[in-house]
Amino acid sequence: MSKIKSIKAREILASGGAPSLEVTVALESDKGGEASVSYGASAGSREATVLLDGDKTRYNGKGMLGAIKNINGEIASNLIGMEAAEQRKIDEKMISLDGTENKARLGGNAMLGVSLAVARAAAEEEKTPLYRYLRKTYGVEDAEWRLPKPMIVMIEGGKHADETTDLQEFMVGAMGSDRTAAENVRMEMEIYEALKKILKREGLSTNVGNEGAFAPNGIISNEKPIEYLVEAIKNAGYQPGIDAGVGIDAAASEFFDEKAKRYKLKLERKELTPEELVAYYSQWIEKYPFVSWEDMLSEFDWENWPKLLEKIGGRFPLIADDLTVTNSKLWQRAIETKAASAILIKLNQAGTLSETVDCCLLANKHNLMTMPSHRGGGETNDTFMVDLAVAMGSEYIKVGPTRGERVCKYNRLMRIEEELGER
Ligand code: PGA
Ligand code: ZN
Repeated sequence: MSKIKSIKAREILASGGAPSLEVTVALESDKGGEASVSYGASAGSREATVLLDGDKTRYNGKGMLGAIKNINGEIASNLIGMEAAEQRKIDEKMISLDGTENKARLGGNAMLGVSLAVARAAAEEEKTPLYRYLRKTYGVEDAEWRLPKPMIVMIEGGKHADETTDLQEFMVGAMGSDRTAAENVRMEMEIYEALKKILKREGLSTNVGNEGAFAPNGIISNEKPIEYLVEAIKNAGYQPGIDAGVGIDAAASEFFDEKAKRYKLKLERKELTPEELVAYYSQWIEKYPFVSWEDMLSEFDWENWPKLLEKIGGRFPLIADDLTVTNSKLWQRAIETKAASAILIKLNQAGTLSETVDCCLLANKHNLMTMPSHRGGGETNDTFMVDLAVAMGSEYIKVGPTRGERVCKYNRLMRIEEELGER
């Protein structure tokens, strides 16, 4: 065990070209850890606050100097001298210092950066890989290591790509348990290449969006990308529904008009009631080999989620992202009301490591799937989410296919696999 000696934060750039922050924690033993924080482009309204400076003369108001000041000042002075291995205590300390429901005062970005850097420092101190340290620290009951499968965004629209499609993400998720993580990654990338050829054939651009997925203009419907993905799986030499299936994240809060209670699908010039949207999606359930659906309805439309879950009827999970924002209370509500059957996990939605882990533990307790995820707008090269997924025994990790801040996650996964001697 070793106490925290110093905490220092700095501004860095995130994938979208705006700042994020990075934190270095040093222990009295001279061991230390570093972490950086990501944030989204289509964030849920109840996420922990990303504290921005709002000073329009710097980065259009998106600077993080205020959050950094909170770390180097108030947070550091309260945490220095605490045992780094006491992660829960440290997170609770920051939560009580902040004193708000949504981490608005110190900033969720500030708190998370410290939380993650402390965990890395403590793992370093114990000379143990981060995923092992996390499993031990949070008492995860799982004797075996089960590596998460890739869920890769292949076509993106919505807020991630100038609304080329209304639904935000069309993914391919690996299926089955025979392949190694490295083989799953290879399969996905071969499907990505096969998709590129299909898009070219269709006269569509293969430029990429925020998450490194293709983001072509000119797609004629929200259903078309599903067809392309099924064809790409086949063309790459794999069997749809056996080796790989299709995932969708509609990010439906982005096209829901809350006052009118209508979903506005611009691409198809449709304005649908929640019931009509459920019916619209339902036609696809039997038609395509799905692995998951996420945020198909708005975060403000709790009452209609159970209707969709019922239609899906256990064929594949319905994942809550903006609905539950990695918050145990909302996740508990989703479980109780049968609104969703899986949860997307984003560290910065919660704002501390311990709160994030609590959502995973709640899912594990109910045997429901967790899927740690990258962020769209401001991802960094930090790979903490991968270690978290391995520690929690998550079924999938959701990360885009290309761009350095995405592929580093898969590279970390393959390194862990090698370390565990599984290939
Ligand atoms: P975001 O989107 O990180 O840009 O919010 C990703 C998602 O909705 O899953
Ligand atoms: Zn989402």
